[in-house]
Amino acid sequence: MTMDSRDIVVTVNGIRHEATVKTRVTLADFLRHQLELTGTHLGCEHGVCGACTVLVDGRTARSCLMLAVQAHGHEIRTVEGIAPNAKELHPLQTAFQKHHGLQCGFCTPGMLTTLIEFLHDNPDPTEAEVRIAISGNLCRCTGYQGIVDAALDAAKTMRNST
Ligand code: FES
Ligand code: FES
Repeated sequence: MTMDSRDIVVTVNGIRHEATVKTRVTLADFLRHQLELTGTHLGCEHGVCGACTVLVDGRTARSCLMLAVQAHGHEIRTVEGIAPNAKELHPLQTAFQKHHGLQCGFCTPGMLTTLIEFLHDNPDPTEAEVRIAISGNLCRCTGYQGIVDAALDAAKTMRNST
């Protein structure tokens, strides 16, 4: 550890990581470059597009606006960690596939993590509520309708499974 670096301990997708990070490195760059979890995408890198959204202790955070040192002691979940196991998809991932909720896939990790938090807080949302929930996540491909349909369908699946 030098003056401009710190030792951190973070749990990412259930795995504990000890790492030395430069104090100026963002959580997004730490995840992508040090942990090689490139599922978290970087679009605008200034908090506007939502592509870099991850879950920090279950709440969404823009990993381009958060420093890796701020993640010390916290639990991070990225898109790589949302499926229950290697053979099954998360209900949201299944619904995105079914409703064509993605085309290029660039926005998808941020959409999924955003919707995981949202459906946890609001398991039976209206279409308007889904649209508000994803209003901070930009998609250049889908026109959003498929994403909204997928979110509503996944909400139904998740309600029926509890
Ligand atoms: S890359 Fe973080 S909000 Fe766009
Ligand atoms: S699927 Fe391409 S940006 Fe959303």
